[in-house]
Amino acid sequence: RMPKRVKIWEVGLRDGLQNEGVLVSAELKVAFAARLAQAGMRHIELTSFVSPRAVPQFADASEVLAQTLRKSAEMSSTAGVKESSPNISVLVPNEKGLKAALAASASACGSAAPTGLREIAIFAAASEAFSKSNINCTIDESLARFAALIPQARAHNIRVRGYVSCVFGCPYEGKVSLDSVLRVTRALLELGCYEISLGDTIGVSTPVHVTELLQHLRRNGVGIDQLAMHFHDTRGTALANVYAALLEGVSTYDASIGGLGGCPFAKGATGNVATEDMVWMLTEMGIDLGEVNFPELIRIGNDLTASVGRSNLSHVSQCTPEA
Ligand code: HMG
Ligand code: MG
Repeated sequence: RMPKRVKIWEVGLRDGLQNEGVLVSAELKVAFAARLAQAGMRHIELTSFVSPRAVPQFADASEVLAQTLRKSAEMSSTAGVKESSPNISVLVPNEKGLKAALAASASACGSAAPTGLREIAIFAAASEAFSKSNINCTIDESLARFAALIPQARAHNIRVRGYVSCVFGCPYEGKVSLDSVLRVTRALLELGCYEISLGDTIGVSTPVHVTELLQHLRRNGVGIDQLAMHFHDTRGTALANVYAALLEGVSTYDASIGGLGGCPFAKGATGNVATEDMVWMLTEMGIDLGEVNFPELIRIGNDLTASVGRSNLSHVSQCTPEA
């Protein structure tokens, strides 16, 4: 079942930055997105249309999205460069967020342009307490919200990816049952999400738990090709967890450049698995990631982490000679 090809969703500019107190300028974020695309990251979660009071880092979401789409449109109008435009997505919690994202896209490319926003991600949780703390509503209320939101996105020809957070453990409730994850995953798929990213928000999973969860979902009718994994490396198990998920056939993974990441509403949630580490391991395993410029990825990780006053948290950046 081991996939020959893996797709990476680069979430560093969203999950990576949302927990950082140092605000990165819109201009720099746009430049980082362009560099990531040029280095071979084909799928970039760019920013988040949440309340700026909840996450001040994304007060500039409209500007970042509009500028990035404008840049992408310019690139695709240049003959031969079309292939290098990445797939851009943004996190959206509600209709207000969707409206703002659509307005930013329309201001950049006109409402009907094929170069506009084509994908968003919504986010639910497998635990009630985390749902309350993260998005201020119960799981069922969040599903009702998404039931209204998803058709609006689809009407604009926008694909919807769904996150389920806290699938292995919750900072408030502790262990989360397999059936809670199954219920929310199924509900989001039925509402029209094309893929569900299962989040180990506080990094408590082990490979055994990954196998157990994926087998439970599969036994209950969820297709492995409908799933992605989103690991946080809080306790150093993220790459081992990736391997367990590979053995179950999962071929899409979220990763964050420089290993940045965390959730302001999950105490103790630290960085996502670093893109650089994931790319190194999968490449060494002979898995096809498309064309990736590895030394440039490390430079981007160094630069993004430096921009928030940190050093690169990936393992490979500690041992690779300066590229
Ligand atoms: P609420 O307070 O229930 O919403 O927040 P509300 O509708 O009552 O609105 C309250 C205020 O927020 C109002 O402003 C709204 O206009 C404003 P006021 O009138 O008080 O000045 N507002 C918005 N502003 C901008 N954009 C919007 C928006 N919506 C309302 N879209 C809400 C509900 C979800 C909006 C809020 O709780 C929120 O923004 N939370 C942020 C959650 C977040 O960003 N969490 C981190 C991302 S999830 C994650 O990291 C996990 C993941 O990585 C996977 C994993 O690791 O597991 C995905
Ligand atoms: Mg996360």
